Amino acid sequence: MRRLRKENLRNLFRESKLSIEDLIVPIFVDEVAKERKEITSMPGYFRIPLEKVTEEVKDCMELGLKAFILFGIPKKKDEIGSEAFKDEGVIQKAVRSIKHDFPDAVIITDICLCAYTTHGHCGVVKNGKILNDETLKIIGKIAVSHARAGADIVAPSGMMDGMVKTIRETLDIQDFFDVAIMSYSAKYASNFYFPFREAAESIYKFGDRKTYQMDFHNSDEALREIELDIKEGADIVMIKPALAYLDIIRRARDVFRIPIAAYNVSGEYAMIKAGIEKGWISKEVIYETLTAIKRAGANLIITYHAKEVAEYLRS
Ligand code: PBG
Repeated sequence: MRRLRKENLRNLFRESKLSIEDLIVPIFVDEVAKERKEITSMPGYFRIPLEKVTEEVKDCMELGLKAFILFGIPKKKDEIGSEAFKDEGVIQKAVRSIKHDFPDAVIITDICLCAYTTHGHCGVVKNGKILNDETLKIIGKIAVSHARAGADIVAPSGMMDGMVKTIRETLDIQDFFDVAIMSYSAKYASNFYFPFREAAESIYKFGDRKTYQMDFHNSDEALREIELDIKEGADIVMIKPALAYLDIIRRARDVFRIPIAAYNVSGEYAMIKAGIEKGWISKEVIYETLTAIKRAGANLIITYHAKEVAEYLRS
């Protein structure tokens, strides 16, 4: 086996290669802030003021990164998250300004209520319960408002049953046939999301997300979720988190013929950053990790490491 590992030969035999085109950059767009603000639990990662979002996109485009997923931090929250579907909402404004300056950028918008509701849940709450079908109506409205602003792809992340079907139908009725859906199909109730919740101010005020996000003891269930989303009209399915869930990515890859995205989440980023800061692991771990996600079978990777790894890939 060692013959093909000789230094001048080994690159010819790489089975998986990470490329800049595989990466999607998450951007936290802050409607209130005037300055970039570092997220405490995500060293080197910032919330970007709405007015500066095109600058951020420009920096990324110069590194060859062309795909973005946007999360909004609105100035106001309410019980049903109505800021999320306003044409003058933070995401709608951000999408319009990015598309104005960079028509070729790929804009994906996260569709969820948690950053927009006072209770911090991903759906409408009644008597302490998260209501599925009530939430769907709002999700449909959010999708249309994002499409109207110019989003290329919408990404529902709230794990409501039927969310993909509702979005597809609602978009089609309004003639947004070419807006694609990237569904957070297999999204687990994970402890790896905590830094994100600080970043997006989306921590829940009671309970947890276990009645809608998946139980991490399960893997067949992820395949059922993905299958349903494909039937409902998803164009891309997502598995989230990525690193502790490489087995799920691989199983999905073996079964389905559809683009798979993996979300290398905030807690995964935080762990690696902490290890590097302490000097306990080297920066090379980032590239190794993302390559592993690719090798497991993901076509696309959403990652907070996008800029640093793009620099590395270009060097
Ligand atoms: C919103 C949402 C979350 C993440 C992406 N979209 C948080 C959550 O479900 O609590 C997590 C992303 C990350 O941790 O990087 N529903």
